[in-house]
Amino acid sequence: MPDRFDLPADFRWGAATAAYQIEGAADEDGRGPSVWDTFAARPGAVRDGHTGAVACDHYHRWPEDIALMQGLGLDGYRFSLAWPRIRPTGAGPVNPAGLAFYDRLVDALLGAGITPLPTLFHWDLPQALEDHGGWLNRDTAHRFADYTALVTDRLGDRVPTWITLNEPFVHTVFGYALGTHAPGRTLMFEALPAAHHQLLAHGLAASILHERGLEAMLSNNLTPVEPASQDPADLAAASAYDTLHNRLFTDPVLLGRYPDLSLLGVPDDIFGAVRPGDLDLIHTPGLDGLGLNFYNPTRVAAPTAPGLPFDLVDIPEAPHTAFGWPVVPDALTTLLLHLRDTYGKALPPLTITENGCSVDESTTPDQPRIDFMSAHLDALARATAEGIDVRGYYTWSLLDNFEWAEGYHQRFGLVHVDFATQHRTPKASYTWYRDLIAAHRLYRAR
Ligand code: BGC
Repeated sequence: MPDRFDLPADFRWGAATAAYQIEGAADEDGRGPSVWDTFAARPGAVRDGHTGAVACDHYHRWPEDIALMQGLGLDGYRFSLAWPRIRPTGAGPVNPAGLAFYDRLVDALLGAGITPLPTLFHWDLPQALEDHGGWLNRDTAHRFADYTALVTDRLGDRVPTWITLNEPFVHTVFGYALGTHAPGRTLMFEALPAAHHQLLAHGLAASILHERGLEAMLSNNLTPVEPASQDPADLAAASAYDTLHNRLFTDPVLLGRYPDLSLLGVPDDIFGAVRPGDLDLIHTPGLDGLGLNFYNPTRVAAPTAPGLPFDLVDIPEAPHTAFGWPVVPDALTTLLLHLRDTYGKALPPLTITENGCSVDESTTPDQPRIDFMSAHLDALARATAEGIDVRGYYTWSLLDNFEWAEGYHQRFGLVHVDFATQHRTPKASYTWYRDLIAAHRLYRAR
């Protein structure tokens, strides 16, 4: 049975983070407020009132963090740029200090032999844009295109590959439908224009990147959906959930059309948001890579109450992470095979742009994370052995960080961060990953 040592010789080993989760320095050097600053200040929005104001203080400690990456022997580092640091109101004047921060970071990464893989948007929308409707306003897609152009003017000479958006599904559903993430809107299915406008932003940004000879990727959170039983009602519910979580965010980009949204009771034009020509803009036949953020599969049953067309149910036979998420590594192989079967030649090369788990701080020596990563990498190798083109793996996350609505309670890092002192301590999973990267390189070079 293929395992992680059978991953391709040129496989890229990486780690991932995101700006609001690690940078801190929320009010420094001209950064504008983001929706997450506003949301986290709302009583009860984030567990224990935590905010990202300081986070891992990466804005000041990035040299130490790059040294940690070098210690791992990473090929690549995925991070996100804070739009409100670069353009504080989202549309007005550019903040030179913000651009200069990422300029220094990119140079230092390159100097350390690590390829930067920036994400342009990982949920920290400038609050000034939210004040005009945020992603519910079509204009935000055009402001994102402007921001893409100005950032790539500055960094495109050194950064060849860009991820446009992180997980438009999670941002739409948690941020605009359920309100558990910023900006805290509770619109249920009427949130879906925010999804369309993010996809439009992706399409506009991908064209800008391509015009400049740069590569464009999109990172989607994807989950294999399993019906709770073969009962037709459970099968229909699973199909509705698959449409919402997976197909809505992947079909338009790879196939140039939306899936059948009537399964969700949503009109084809997504409440008037879809205009003629939009799908041509969103369709990205030359997408250079699809990023997959994979955490767990989802089991779905027929709804037990009016409202949603599905119920999400637990997978009780699986172990669970500290966050309570089921651990089912085989589901990663299933997902990759399913993507190939669904999209065929339209599927671009894949990269795992996030995968990892939260482990309780008191669990030493961090064995659950090592088990999680090794099982998922073996599952990945089983898919690459079937001919699926997966180019790299970016573990989530380099550092313990601000885990959105959970504040600092869920620890996803290979490096422990003491948030009182900012002291960083590599965990056993750090040493394990370092040794795996080195061993894989040796093994493949034989
Ligand atoms: C997000 C990360 C987040 C991780 C763990 C992903 O959905 O992109 O920002 O920290 O999952 O919840």
